[in-house]
Amino acid sequence: MRLYKKTGSTVHIISFPDEDVEKGCYLLIEDKRAGKSLIVQVIDIQFANVPGIMEELLREPLIDDPRGEDIDPFDITSHILYVQDARLLICKIHGTVRDNKIVSDTSWLPSRIHSAIYRLPVERLLEMASIVGAYPISLGETPEMSPVVIDASNLDGKLNIITGRKGVGKSHLSKLLVLGLVKHGATVIILDINGEYRNLGLNSNGEKNEFYNRIHVLVPRENFKVTLHQTGLSVMMRILVYALNLPGTSAREFKHIWHFLEERKMLSLHEIGEAIRRWQCNQQVKDALFSRYHTLLHTGFFTDNLEEAIGFEELLQEVEEEGGALVIDLSGSAPIERQIIVEYILAKLQDLLFQRRIMPIFLFAEEAHLYLRETYWDDIVTRMRHFGIFTTFITNQPNTIKESIYRQADNIFIFNFVNEHDLEFISRAAKVDAETLVSIVRDLPPHYCLVLGDVVKNFPVIVKVRPLNVQTMGETRLFFKERDANESRIKQEPTLHISQQAKTS
Ligand SMILES: Nc1ncnc2c1ncn2[C@@H]1O[C@H](COP(=O)(O)OP(=O)(O)O)[C@@H](O)[C@H]1O
Ligand SMILES: [Mg+2]
Repeated sequence: MRLYKKTGSTVHIISFPDEDVEKGCYLLIEDKRAGKSLIVQVIDIQFANVPGIMEELLREPLIDDPRGEDIDPFDITSHILYVQDARLLICKIHGTVRDNKIVSDTSWLPSRIHSAIYRLPVERLLEMASIVGAYPISLGETPEMSPVVIDASNLDGKLNIITGRKGVGKSHLSKLLVLGLVKHGATVIILDINGEYRNLGLNSNGEKNEFYNRIHVLVPRENFKVTLHQTGLSVMMRILVYALNLPGTSAREFKHIWHFLEERKMLSLHEIGEAIRRWQCNQQVKDALFSRYHTLLHTGFFTDNLEEAIGFEELLQEVEEEGGALVIDLSGSAPIERQIIVEYILAKLQDLLFQRRIMPIFLFAEEAHLYLRETYWDDIVTRMRHFGIFTTFITNQPNTIKESIYRQADNIFIFNFVNEHDLEFISRAAKVDAETLVSIVRDLPPHYCLVLGDVVKNFPVIVKVRPLNVQTMGETRLFFKERDANESRIKQEPTLHISQQAKTS
């Protein structure tokens, strides 16, 4: 390989056909005289545009004509072919290695004549960058098949985004990170919109795994109900005002009702209904209160029965002891119910964290635009992060997350996108240069992602995410697949069907 050109942070390198390079790999440009090497990453591979190459290619069929005889005493053809197949590697500069240490100096220029260029295995690069610490999470392997292990401490206190088109393995990676964090004793809360995290405690063959006792599935209205006492007025007001859009005057009346009942130790869903009925206030306020009251009743999330209520705080404290995941299964909830539940959870978490009653937690939110209210987005990256809620957003629609959130993200895991619009959106928003991102992400096969950010010390790395031996339940139900499976089952058990028929006839 030869150094050809440098413009800005881009370096062009000429590579010959027998040299093995692929997109995403790293190269070292070692200048022995300067005593240092430049680290560059190949982001695109093109043909080298040698002058006259088109003419050469056009002429070739004539040369190959079997009727003539090749006279090539100096063996020029092979050289021409070699040149024809030369590649131009478009590379981005990422730092300098001096005395086996990485420094961020990128201002120097290696010599064209005296530098040697060779491949820098990603494993070696990550080792030099020392990305692993005391809390390893094995992510998978590089395309060169060397392991990639990140450190959970680089997810701690951070904002992470996992994105990519449908079915490429986003939720799979998110499950891998969840289990990694749980293994190291962290508390993880998952807002599970598709109900696909509930079986993380089971192996793919259905047996209990090491996480079984640490995965707690909360299904609203089944095993996740709360009393008004547990909710508290401030959380209830947030639900009414933000999730149910209760206007100010009515909100004030509701507060009066709550205090009135609380003083008489009569606070219950039932009594609130009665109190609204009897309350002296104008009819519009009364109607507004009643409609919200009925929505709350219908969610089935609130209860007056202490036996069936769950202490969210106690549960969190219990999970905290050895680490675990709370899976909030939102798959069976209507949109308004989801908003109420999420409002409850986030408001509760903020209160508990503010009062230092629980340890910081990791929040995983799939397709958050479906249940997160507008003002929470900025809150999550600023205030909530400060309190100790560290969020990972997972989405297949990158534009549902605001650009400002991408800019503040500490780690981004990007799977394949084919849609130009999506690609353009993230490349504008992510911290890495747009060229690297677009060029690499466009060609990623399923299960491969480009990892950017703190976990890889800002060296973009392509990772093939490892399989998981858990019931991931990510699969979408398919009509033809299910029907064919049913039919083949029927074919396999004909005797049963005949005997059944005999019985019925
Ligand atoms: N790295 C991987 N190794 C093995 N199987 C995977 C991997 N990533 C995803 N899968 C499988 O591919 C399917 C789709 O993955 P999923 O994570 O649900 O995609 P997405 O969330 O991006 O739509 C699932 O059945 C999942 O188990
Ligand atoms: Mg998914």
